[in-house]
Order: sequence, then C-alpha cells, then structure tokens
Amino acid sequence: IMKRCLSTSNALNVIKNVTIIGGGLMGSGIAQVTAQSGQNVTIVEVNDGAIKTAEKRISDSLVRVGKKLYKDNPQEAEKFVQGTKSKVRGVTDVGEGVKNADLVIEAIVENIDVKHKLFKQIDTLAPPSALLASNTSSLSIRDIASVTNRKDKFGGLHFFNPVPVMKLLEVVTTPELSEESYKSFMEWGKSVGKVCVTCKDTPGFVVNRLLVPYMAEALRMYERGDASAKDIDIAMKLGAGYPMGPIELVDYVGLDTTLFIIEGWHKKFPDNPLFVPPESLKKLVAEKKFGVKSGEGYYKYD
Ligand code: CAA
Ligand code: NAD
Repeated sequence: IMKRCLSTSNALNVIKNVTIIGGGLMGSGIAQVTAQSGQNVTIVEVNDGAIKTAEKRISDSLVRVGKKLYKDNPQEAEKFVQGTKSKVRGVTDVGEGVKNADLVIEAIVENIDVKHKLFKQIDTLAPPSALLASNTSSLSIRDIASVTNRKDKFGGLHFFNPVPVMKLLEVVTTPELSEESYKSFMEWGKSVGKVCVTCKDTPGFVVNRLLVPYMAEALRMYERGDASAKDIDIAMKLGAGYPMGPIELVDYVGLDTTLFIIEGWHKKFPDNPLFVPPESLKKLVAEKKFGVKSGEGYYKYD
C-alpha cells in the first residue's frame, strides 16, 4: 500500500506544467481550469490572433467565475482574474510549447490525420516522462496514440463544454495505458476540480455515445417537420429537464464538430441508422454556419 501511495504522489507532484494544444472552445476552458488550480499552462495555437482569441475567452469566463466566487469583493475578484491569467502563456511553436511539459492535452480539430501529424511531433519534442492526452469527442484514443512511442503514457481526457462549468471528466483507458499513468490522469482530473469517470476506448465513450445519436435524432425530427426547432428544444427542456434543448446544444457544441463526429462513426459503422449524418447539418456546415462560435447555426446569435 505504501508503495502505491508513493507512486501516486510522485506522479502527482510531477504535473506542474500543462501544455494545451489548441485554444479553441475546449482548449481555452481546459487551460482556464488548469490555471485556476495553480498549475502553469502553455497554450499552443496556430497564430497570434488565435492566442488573443483564447486569452479573451479565458478572461471573460474568469470574470464570470470571479463574480461568483467573490460576490461582495470586486477587488478580490480582480486579483483572482489577474492571478489566474498570469499562469497562462500562449505560443505558436509546438516544440517551444511542450519542451517543459509534464502533461500535454490536445484539443485541436476532430480529424485523425491532423491529430496524428501533431502527436508525431509532440512525441519527439516533449520530455520522455510527459503524459500525453487527447480531448477527442469521438475518435479512438488507441488510434491517435498509435503514432507515438509512449502508448503506456497516452490516455483520453474528455472534457465537456463549457469546461469551467461542467463537472465531468471522462478518463479514457487503452490496453496499453499503464496503471501509474491512469492513476496520474485520475488524480490530475481531481486536482482541476472535476469528477472523473473511467471509460473504455469505445466510440463516444459514455456521454457522446448517448448524446450524439439523441442530437441527430432531434435534427431528423426537425427535417421531417414533425415540430419546429424551437418547439423540439422547449419540449426537451420542459418535458425532460435538460438545461438546453438538443438543437440548441448542436449550435453550442459546434455544427462542424458534431458533423465530424457523426461522419466518422458513419464511415466506421455504415449499418447503424443512428450514425447517419443529418442532411440539414451537412448543408449548414457547407455554408460555414458552425453555431454559436460563428454567429449562426440552426439559430442566429448576435
Ligand atoms: N464560463 C464560466 N461560467 C459560465 C460559463 C463559462 N463559459 N457559461 C456559463 N457559466 C456560468 C454562469 O456564470 C452561471 O453561473 P451562476 O448560475 O452562478 O450565475 C451558470 O454558469 C449558468 O449560466 P447561465 O445563467 O448563463 O445560463 P444557463 O443557466 O442556461 O447555463 C449552461 C448555461 C451551463 C451552458 C447550461 O445551459 C448547460 O448545462 N447546457 C448543457 C451543456 C451540455 O450539455 N454540455 C455538454 C455538451 S457535449 C460535450 O461537451 C462533449 C462533446 O465531446 C461534444
Ligand atoms: P475549436 O474549433 O473551437 O478549436 C480548435 C482550435 O485548435 C482552434 O482554435 C484552432 O486554431 C486550433 N488548432 C487547429 N490545429 C492546430 C494545430 N495543429 N496546432 C495548434 N492549434 C491548432 O474546436 P473545439 O470545439 O475546441 O474542439 C477541439 C477538440 O475537442 C476536438 O477534438 C473536439 O472533438 C473535442 N471536444 C469538443 C467539444 C465541444 O463541445 N465542442 C466537447 C468535448 C471535446
């Protein structure tokens, strides 16, 4: 028992520097909660504009969290915002970003080829002791890890949008993941304030395997004209107690991300009717209507 405790705490002590690749919707949230827990965060993005966008998103979200944490004390709230922001730096070079990392979390576009290219680089540039993780929604962790030489240190860390609010973290295991790395992922998840569940490396893990077919079914219902998008959303909010309706949720998750997920599964499992990409989703994505993040999806946003 002594040995196990020691090995866990050793592993935990090691995670001080976390690098997040991709500072979009998810990456900025992951960076934020990590910085809030006192760890040093490096965000790697494609250009300075994208770093600025990530920093702005983190700053806006921290202001909301700060207001809640320090209701009657705007000075303390401001200190919290500035203190947390000072833990985050942005870079555009992967090598520079991962060279001191204890843990690297990838949150870039949901595309296996792009992720493979990135992880080949990370594997050669990050310290050999660094743990690697992907925040993928739907791809196989084992598949992503296949291009690296540290499959025992590679797992899934699947967060939920909005990361600062959603309490869950799915920790995804593979047959190659070592017990020690698994424990480090679980401990790290707790350290950033999340409740961790353990999932096998199956399509969509737990939440998305149930949620994505539900969202696609709602889009098909809308396409058939059984009810309006607004009424489908109202119905599921007031009739089933969901905080958002399924179509609002597609807009919130991102239409591009939702389509990537369902197209990938459709290719792999062509006989499953739940995985057929809805026509309206394909059409809106082709029109670059990605939902809240682009200003329009099934609904319009200012
Ligand atoms: N940062 C910080 N705080 C935030 C925030 C953010 N980005 N977004 C919301 N909040 C806070 C607000 O400040 C507010 O706090 P108080 O209640 O203390 O004032 C609280 O969260 C509620 O927010 P709002 O009042 O603005 O709005 P709401 O009550 O409608 O809640 C919501 C917003 C939390 C997003 C809620 O609608 C919700 O839970 N929606 C469902 C989200 C969901 O299902 N996510 C999973 C998507 S699937 C996924 O992520 C996996 C995948 O791989 C695709
Ligand atoms: P997003 O489009 O908001 O962000 C992706 C970011 O990655 C962009 O800012 C882009 O500039 C950056 N990027 C792309 N290629 C890069 C590279 N090679 N190096 C550095 N940065 C790069 O997407 P998102 O919604 O944050 O999704 C990211 C990942 O998280 C995907 O794998 C997605 O499936 C997963 N995910 C999404 C959600 C969700 O609700 N949107 C929830 C959980 C997991």
